[in-house]
Amino acid sequence: MNSRPFSSTILAAILCIQLFQLTVYGSDASNKLYIVYLGEKRHNDPKLVTASHYEMLTPIFGSKEEAGNSIVYSYKHGFSGFATMLNESQAQILSEMPDVISVTPNSKFTAHTTRSWDFLGLDYNSKDNGLLQKANYGEDIIIGVIDSGIWPESESFDATGYGPAPKRWRGICETGASFGASNCSNKIIGARWYAKDMSSSDLKGEYLSPRDDNGHGTHTASTAAGKAFIF
Ligand SMILES: *[C@@H]1O[C@H](CO)[C@@H](O)[C@H](O)[C@H]1NC(C)=O
Ligand SMILES: *[C@@H]1O[C@H](CO)[C@@H](O)[C@H](O)[C@H]1NC(C)=O
Repeated sequence: MNSRPFSSTILAAILCIQLFQLTVYGSDASNKLYIVYLGEKRHNDPKLVTASHYEMLTPIFGSKEEAGNSIVYSYKHGFSGFATMLNESQAQILSEMPDVISVTPNSKFTAHTTRSWDFLGLDYNSKDNGLLQKANYGEDIIIGVIDSGIWPESESFDATGYGPAPKRWRGICETGASFGASNCSNKIIGARWYAKDMSSSDLKGEYLSPRDDNGHGTHTASTAAGKAFIF
């Protein structure tokens, strides 16, 4: 059920969310933090992107130094933009500049939930009428996960009580380093790994097998199809 793919391509999604609002910064308390979005970056060198931000603000502040002091964050990798302390008229001037796509006052965000089941209104605790029961505990469902591999010894993948895989299953259990045929079971019904075209430095520290070195694939696979511990 699990493949061992591209260790170097696991995406760490880094969400830069400003969870708080800076209301006082610099000398003028009437200044507020604005997010200035400039779209695609025009330079590959992050230093040049930041320099262009300073340049853009210099006429508004009258000096490069003051412009620099007003910038709180400079966004220079995925896109071009910056967060800066401005008063209303400065924000207005900036928003009218041809290279500026938007100037938005900073706002406060809070996490919706850290409990997805509750957030979705799912009653996972009820033995008789809960979601898991309605879904027949996932009976006969095969879930494939493309990720960093799997750790078969994890209790989440305990096969106790499981019958054989559904007849329609055509997969295989590919073995390799620290991953023998016994690592597949009636729970982990198949596993493959893919490492062709990877350099030895890409593969450093990795098992040449479906075994999970960094834990990411084990986490996602057990989230999707792990044993329920809640009863
Ligand atoms: C914003 O700051 C500039 C420069 O200090 C000043 O000239 C302007 O009057 C200020 N505008 C507001 C609305 O405070
Ligand atoms: C998985 O395979 C390895 C290598 O053959 C073995 O040492 C380990 O005990 C196996 N684990 C399970 C849960 O079967």
